[in-house]
Amino acid sequence: MRFLILVFLFTGFCVAFCPKNSVNNSQGDGCFSVLELATTYARAEEYCESINSFAASVHNAFDNQILLDRARYVLGAQLPSADAFWLGGYYDGSTIRWADGSPADYTNFMTGVNGSGNIVAQLQDGKWRVAAWNEQKPLACVGKYESVQCDAPCDTEWFYAKQLKACYKVVGSTNGMTWNEADTACRSAGGILTSITSDEENRIVNEIATTNMKLGKVEWQTWTGGVRTGPNPQDWRWIDGAPFNFTTWALGQPDDGKGIQNCLQVYTSVFSGEFKNDADYLTKWDDLQCDANSLNGVCKKVAKY
Ligand SMILES: *[C@@H]1O[C@H](CO)[C@@H](O)[C@H](O)[C@H]1NC(C)=O
Ligand SMILES: *[C@@H]1O[C@H](CO)[C@@H](O)[C@H](O)[C@H]1NC(C)=O
Ligand SMILES: *[C@@H]1O[C@H](CO)[C@@H](O)[C@H](O)[C@H]1NC(C)=O
Repeated sequence: MRFLILVFLFTGFCVAFCPKNSVNNSQGDGCFSVLELATTYARAEEYCESINSFAASVHNAFDNQILLDRARYVLGAQLPSADAFWLGGYYDGSTIRWADGSPADYTNFMTGVNGSGNIVAQLQDGKWRVAAWNEQKPLACVGKYESVQCDAPCDTEWFYAKQLKACYKVVGSTNGMTWNEADTACRSAGGILTSITSDEENRIVNEIATTNMKLGKVEWQTWTGGVRTGPNPQDWRWIDGAPFNFTTWALGQPDDGKGIQNCLQVYTSVFSGEFKNDADYLTKWDDLQCDANSLNGVCKKVAKY
C-alpha cells in the first residue's frame, strides 16, 4: 500500500476515499475497519480478505488510537462483552509477524505478556496482549482506498493526449475564422494555437479537428500556430516556442502563393474530387494567407499531468 502515498504526493491532484464503514489510517495510505462479529483468529484473516483487506497491522501510536476509537464505536453496542479485538499479527514471545507482511516497527504490549499467540488489542486501554487462535474475538482489518478521485488532466472541453501531456481544443465560428481570430480565441481559452512536433501530434490535431466541432464556411482546413519567418520553405516557427523539428507538407507545399502565405493550416479534410490524389493532401500541411477566414483552429495547452 505504500506505493499509493507516493502517487498522491507526486501528482498532488488525487483525493482518496475509504470504503463505507472504514476510516483513514494516520498516513492516509490505508483504511481501517473493525468487524462486528466474533471469530477465531483462524477465520479472521479470511473475513478481512472477503472485504478486500488484510487483518490489520499497526505501525504507530496514532494508528493504534484510530483503531481503538473505531473498535469502541463499532463494538460499543454490538458486542458489549468483547474485551479485545484481533490484530493481524502473531507474537512468538520476542518478534511480531504481521499478516500483511509489513515490518514490525512498533509494539504496544502491556507489561508481563506471556508466551506466544495471536495479537489482540484491549478495548479498555488499547494495549496489546496475545490470545489463543481459537478464542472468539471481533477483528480489525486494513484495506486499500476504494476510490481515488483525481483532478482531470485537462479542463472540460479539452481533449487529453496522455502521451504528449497536452490538452487540445477546437475553436471556430459558423463563419470560420482568420488566423488572428483563432489565435485570439485560443488565448482567451487559456491556450495557444497548437504546434505539431510529431506524427502522433499531427494525427491528434487532425482527429480532434474533424471529430469535434466542425465549424466554418468550409470545413476542411484548420489553423495551427505555425507562422512564416522568411521566404524559404524551411522558414517557419511555432508561436508556442516548440522546435520546428517535424514537417508533413502537402504535395508542392509550402509554395508561398502570391508571396502572402504566412500561416500554417492543415488539410484536416478534403472535398471529394478537390485534388487529383487526396492522399497527397489529407492530414498534411499548407501555407495560406492569414486573413483567409474560413477555417477552424486547434489550440493546445500543457496538461496538468
Ligand atoms: C484520507 O486521507 C487522504 C490522504 O491523506 C485524504 O486525501 C482523504 O481526504 C482522507 N479521506 C477521508 C475520508 O478523510
Ligand atoms: C502471565 O502469566 C502469569 C502467571 O500465570 C499471570 O499471573 C499473568 O496474569 C499473565 N499475564 C498476562 C498479561 O496474561
Ligand atoms: C521535436 O521536439 C519536441 C520537443 O522537444 C519533441 O517532443 C518531439 O518529439 C520532437 N520531434 C521530433 C520529430 O524529433
